[in-house]
Amino acid sequence: MPNHNHVCLITKLFVQLSSEGSAHDEIDFEFLGNSSGYPYTLHTNVFSQGKGNREQQFFLWFDPTADFHTYSILWNPQRIIFFVDNTPIREFKNAESRGVPFLKNQPMRIYSSLWNADEWATQGGRVKTDWTLSPFTASYRNFSANACIWSSGASSCSSSSSSSTSGTRAWFRQGLDAKSRVKLRWVQKNYMIYNYCTDTMRFPEGIAPECGMN
Ligand SMILES: *[C@@H]1O[C@H](CO)[C@@H](O)[C@H](O)[C@H]1NC(C)=O
Ligand SMILES: *[C@@H]1O[C@H](CO)[C@@H](O)[C@H](O)[C@H]1NC(C)=O
Repeated sequence: MPNHNHVCLITKLFVQLSSEGSAHDEIDFEFLGNSSGYPYTLHTNVFSQGKGNREQQFFLWFDPTADFHTYSILWNPQRIIFFVDNTPIREFKNAESRGVPFLKNQPMRIYSSLWNADEWATQGGRVKTDWTLSPFTASYRNFSANACIWSSGASSCSSSSSSSTSGTRAWFRQGLDAKSRVKLRWVQKNYMIYNYCTDTMRFPEGIAPECGMN
């Protein structure tokens, strides 16, 4: 997706699903820029009914400015899964049973933007945007959206006679299969650099209830 002309681009690229208003729902993929030669941070967040503070950040196993990659969000009433090139990197489960509102009552639109966040995003705000390198560009290709209709806990996709019982289509119906769980753990072990679920300094009153769900 991001295809920048300048590897030293210092800014933030943002792709999100979002509803409107102060109690909005939102699912974010953000790319935090860096000095040339240093890794970008892939920043993710989930807001439900206006409450966010659910950041998880990753380094990527490739340079996201060098080529197009596929960034996907699977969203159904049970879970939200973030994928990079079809590898799951994050799962946010429905934790309504623990009193956490889930993103399921508000429609969301997809937005994408490129903006300056050098007061916090780039090495914590230490690195500033070099405007002499502007204009900055981001390009997208091959956008696609698929939807299943859910009613009484069942998805229209489960009745489809689609040949694939694996892959993304199957995830519409259920969760990740065992192989994908292994991949998710691999990414989280090797590439995750920040997880709100383990930040007890930031949340001394206790870690979010959805964090303990497994
Ligand atoms: C930029 O690179 C530095 C050095 O490797 C790293 O600590 C930092 O997390 C990277 N990303 C951002 C957004 O600052
Ligand atoms: C475009 O997306 C489809 C699936 O949505 C995929 O099968 C195809 O390989 C993609 N093409 C490119 C050029 O990325």
